[in-house]
Amino acid sequence: MREESRGNVVLIGFMGSGKSTMGIRLSYRLQYILEDTDKLIETKAGMTISEIFAREGEEAFRQMETQLLQQLVEKKGRRVYSVGGGTPVRAVNRPLLKKLGTVVYLRTRPETVYERLKNDTTRPLLQGEDPLGKIRSLMAERESAYAETADVILDVDEMTTDQVVESIMGSIR
Ligand code: S3P
Repeated sequence: MREESRGNVVLIGFMGSGKSTMGIRLSYRLQYILEDTDKLIETKAGMTISEIFAREGEEAFRQMETQLLQQLVEKKGRRVYSVGGGTPVRAVNRPLLKKLGTVVYLRTRPETVYERLKNDTTRPLLQGEDPLGKIRSLMAERESAYAETADVILDVDEMTTDQVVESIMGSIR
């Protein structure tokens, strides 16, 4: 298939699964606009995600995510969407994600996420006592929501960035 005739791509997966990096690479490769929902929310709120969680709470953030998805589904044009790790968890978001495009789930092991994010301070959900335990439990809780939303599942732990990009290119319609 010619690249310019492909549809939109939606990247989902746990924190640290590589959605933002792959979003940048894919949008460049496809010459599509990149929409990173965390960044759009931060810009609109004039606060970082951590500040939103601290000042307004997680539920307010989740409402912002749903509201943003409702706006994004109205947009025309070729786009790559990179969405926050918790976005598919809310049932109301899942049909919206599917409406946005081919949903690609970047699946990772908890240990991979832990290694990548152990020094990160920007994910409020992982700032507690036992980040690996939190990653394990959250990931287990979310797995069915991710799998249910996905059109394509890629196990990315052992893959290079180039391999992930090529696999996505090969699997999108
Ligand atoms: C979250 C993931 C984050 C961000 C927020 C909550 C989650 O996005 O939306 O911190 O619930 O998994 P990334 O997946 O881009 O880190």
